[in-house]
Amino acid sequence: MTLTAQILTIFPDMFPGPLGGSLVGKALKDGLWRMEVLDIRSFASNKHASVDDTPYGGGAGMVMRPDVIDVAIRDAESRNGPFARKIYLSPRGRVLDQALVKELAACPSMLLLCGRYEGVDQRVLDAQQMEEVSIGDFVLGGGELAAMVLLEACVRLLPGVMGNAATTDEESFESGLLEYPHYTRPAVWNGLEVPEVLVSGNHARVKNWRQVQAEELTRTRRPDLYEAYQLRHKESVKEKKS
Ligand code: ADE
Repeated sequence: MTLTAQILTIFPDMFPGPLGGSLVGKALKDGLWRMEVLDIRSFASNKHASVDDTPYGGGAGMVMRPDVIDVAIRDAESRNGPFARKIYLSPRGRVLDQALVKELAACPSMLLLCGRYEGVDQRVLDAQQMEEVSIGDFVLGGGELAAMVLLEACVRLLPGVMGNAATTDEESFESGLLEYPHYTRPAVWNGLEVPEVLVSGNHARVKNWRQVQAEELTRTRRPDLYEAYQLRHKESVKEKKS
């Protein structure tokens, strides 16, 4: 099963952009996922091809028109069929995390609506039952880069995209912890040595050291994640006992 991503944007030239490079770009060329980009402006019916207008109630900026967005979504659906997820990238959405990335990577198709200006008329978001996703608590100039972030995170989880399938198992967030530090050759660099345990050849010691490092990093850098990890850990200890 391949993932189809339908992008709706007024800047179609921004795509594939970074998604055309690296392993994700190779996977696109190899057909492991599909991307279709629609220019919202081509659905504007008036002679100025305007996709936005001033906000009712006043205020700064412009709002994207519901009629134009709606026609664009319908056009995409007429060719693709209904999308498993219809997502509007917006700073007020559910914040993207690895759990949501996994959920999205498992779905066959998604429509990603990239807004510009102050936002999109609420009525089309409601009528189309769009979900809103944010990539973090900061404001971008539009949803395009957010859509690319979301897609890169999802596509790298698709079967066959990453060379070494095992690499995603141990990375940050899989265990609920940040990842332990990595080292490679040279064994001594600028007078700095690699931790002794990593060259000991003792796999059990290496595993234990990495676990301790991951826990310590998470505790100091991300107390929020650490607390959640501890809670889950206690739960699983309780489950094993009962
Ligand atoms: N559009 C503007 N800012 C955004 C954000 N933080 N996440 C998703 N879409 C956005």
